[in-house]
Amino acid sequence: FLKSVNRSYKYMSLKAKLYKLPITEIKVRYALLKRANGYKPFLYNITFDACEFLRSPNNPVTKVAFTLVKKHTNLNHTCPFDHDLIVEKLDSNYVANILSRLPFPSGDYAVYSTWFAYDIPRADVNIYLKATD
Ligand SMILES: *[C@@H]1O[C@H](CO)[C@@H](O)[C@H](O)[C@H]1NC(C)=O
Ligand SMILES: *[C@@H]1O[C@H](CO)[C@@H](O)[C@H](O)[C@H]1NC(C)=O
Ligand SMILES: *[C@@H]1O[C@H](CO)[C@@H](O)[C@H](O)[C@H]1NC(C)=O
Repeated sequence: FLKSVNRSYKYMSLKAKLYKLPITEIKVRYALLKRANGYKPFLYNITFDACEFLRSPNNPVTKVAFTLVKKHTNLNHTCPFDHDLIVEKLDSNYVANILSRLPFPSGDYAVYSTWFAYDIPRADVNIYLKATD
């Protein structure tokens, strides 16, 4: 869900309804892609155990990604999850500000993610980003 409040304030919200609670095992795979004749794999394709990461954040790339949503999500504790997963009003300026500190060449990027519960893929979330100079 994307909302454009005015020219300078836009945000993203996301809600995932979980049907069988509690959930004690979540894995996430995410890959970065860069556009060049279609989206091609670029640098990262990481699968991690979300319960383990939330217990003790280890992977540095995942840490940066989590920093983006940390203050805007109820997914900020470790497993089990006994509630829907929410990302609330993630401000595009805030995201742009953090991402602009990373040394990526300009271009079109995508992040494709797949969310697994008990090793069964349950949701795909794809995000598209443009890096400008
Ligand atoms: C855009 O909306 C936000 C939130 O309502 C407000 O704080 C801000 O002043 C608005 N900006 C402009 C340029 O209207
Ligand atoms: C990431 O790796 C997995 C497992 O090797 C593969 O199935 C998937 O297609 C890859 N994703 C992308 C976007 O390249
Ligand atoms: C998770 O986020 C909520 C709402 O922002 C906050 O009240 C809570 O302290 C956070 N918990 C952790 C472990 O950071």
